[in-house]
Amino acid sequence: MISLQEIYSKIKHPLSENIKFAATKCDRYSIENNSKNEFMKRLLVLILCIASVLSVSAQSKKVLVAYFSCTGTTESVAKAVAQAVKADLYKITPLKPYTSADLDWNNKSSRSTLEMKDSNSRPLLANKKANIKAYDVIFIGYPIWWGKCPTIINTFMEAYDFNGKTVIPFATSGGSSILNSEKLLKQLYNKNIYWKQGMLLNDGATQAASWAKKIL
Ligand SMILES: Cc1cc2nc3c(=O)[nH]c(=O)nc-3n(C[C@H](O)[C@H](O)[C@H](O)COP(=O)(O)O)c2cc1C
Repeated sequence: MISLQEIYSKIKHPLSENIKFAATKCDRYSIENNSKNEFMKRLLVLILCIASVLSVSAQSKKVLVAYFSCTGTTESVAKAVAQAVKADLYKITPLKPYTSADLDWNNKSSRSTLEMKDSNSRPLLANKKANIKAYDVIFIGYPIWWGKCPTIINTFMEAYDFNGKTVIPFATSGGSSILNSEKLLKQLYNKNIYWKQGMLLNDGATQAASWAKKIL
């Protein structure tokens, strides 16, 4: 039979010393008592220990909600996400704010139309003060523009080092899906970033809060 310490040796976790201690105890107990039932009982306790250690460590992750919003819809769900998972909030701010004329998608030469047509467009950020280094998980929220994320999200992704981070997109829209924007982001920024499946949060704060708790 495989020993619990052998099981332990397969576990790679920052809190694994606690698990190792429990595994050693269980092995010793089962050898001394030579009882299959006791071994199974202790194994169950060990599994519960591991589950609680993992859930404590999930809660202790440092989480940031970074979002871009021009007319407030994404901002309000970003706030709900941050509150639900006790995350810090960071507003992605363009150096040059978007006017309503800039946002006119019916105008072929409005700023947003021109930016979204140009895959190399990278609107400048007002600052680079997001302390991405300090976080394990970064939610990134944006409105869907022309079926994609606004190109300032590309600027943001390229302004910081997301190496080893978990990134979770969310969006609001007039009805379009988030899927295309997610696909494009994952294609462009695929080096050592752990992308989790994103979510369109058009149903407001309650939907945003319950999704955020589940996805984390
Ligand atoms: C330039 C521009 C393009 C847009 N393109 C789309 C689109 O392709 N599909 C869609 O469903 N909504 C589109 N919308 C609507 C926004 O995604 C929606 O209103 C969003 O909730 C706005 O978020 P905000 O208030 O945080 O800026 C567009 C809005 C703008 C300004």
